Amino acid sequence: MTDDTTGTHGAVLQDTAPDGEHPLVELRGAGKSYGNIRALHGVDLSVHPGRVTCVLGDNGAGKSTLIKIISGLHQHTEGEFLVDGVPVRFSTPREALGKGIATVYQDLAVVPLMPVWRNFFLGSEMTKGPWPVRRLDIERMKRTADRELRNMGIVLDDLEQPIGTLSGGQRQCVAIARAVYFGARVLILDEPTAALGVKQSGVVLKYIAAARDRGLGVIFITHNPHHAYMVGDHFSVLRLGTMELSAARSEVSLEELTHHMAGGTELAALKHELAQVRGVDVEELPEEGDLQAPAVASPEGKS
Ligand SMILES: Nc1ncnc2c1ncn2[C@@H]1O[C@H](COP(=O)(O)OP(=O)(O)OP(=O)(O)O)[C@@H](O)[C@H]1O
Ligand SMILES: [Mg+2]
Repeated sequence: MTDDTTGTHGAVLQDTAPDGEHPLVELRGAGKSYGNIRALHGVDLSVHPGRVTCVLGDNGAGKSTLIKIISGLHQHTEGEFLVDGVPVRFSTPREALGKGIATVYQDLAVVPLMPVWRNFFLGSEMTKGPWPVRRLDIERMKRTADRELRNMGIVLDDLEQPIGTLSGGQRQCVAIARAVYFGARVLILDEPTAALGVKQSGVVLKYIAAARDRGLGVIFITHNPHHAYMVGDHFSVLRLGTMELSAARSEVSLEELTHHMAGGTELAALKHELAQVRGVDVEELPEEGDLQAPAVASPEGKS
């Protein structure tokens, strides 16, 4: 192996040809229990090439559990998990990677002091020369990283700069370009915009769209309905481990999605609880779906 990427990520190149008939990834009534804690139950989800499937949900809703099943970290304990229409049960993330399923975690596994190009090839370095004098092919790695980043529309001034000097958003983008380069068919992004400001989030959303346009099936985990709606084709909302909403873009508006996420009914319940606990005048609190500050009531307006 002298002229190609070597090492771990070689396995990414898919060993299953997509036939176009089946979703890339599909869950049917899937669930997961940790001992007697049921983290996920009865979840249906499908991921198609060139489409972004958004998974939304509040803290503890089961989002990470869902992607851990798909990325091979955990196994489902109920229902079915299919890749290209074939039931699977991965025992390691490497097996998922072997089927072209790549996951970009929020706490990216990068070496901050190493240059960008080095991180791009981390664990899958290009080499040249025959064994035992095989060496890293530095020039080719730099050239390739530069080309791949540009292909995704990511322009960095200097690929020699330590990746630790990039912003969080830029690092996410490098990770997305890397997954695309190493042949991912399914790209899972776990809350890539959670720690980012408005502008950086926009940049990451742009590369999610770029990955989609390159034909990848994207699973975008977020708790921000606005971010989801900007790039999503399908929306699945998890609540307490079950799928509360599963709707195509044409079936749900941003307002409805926001309402689901904000938990309109929960807001009403919260008002009720607040009233009992603190003696708060709940009449002054906003109504369900109306999160504007309450208008100042006139003294006689108070009952
Ligand atoms: N390894 C584990 N052992 C036991 N329970 C777990 C484990 N991992 C998750 N859980 C439980 O499963 C439920 C779902 O957790 P999960 O991490 O999937 O939620 P999440 O939607 O990713 O939340 P967050 O937004 O906080 O990341 C939670 O109640 C959690 O406590
Ligand atoms: Mg999580």
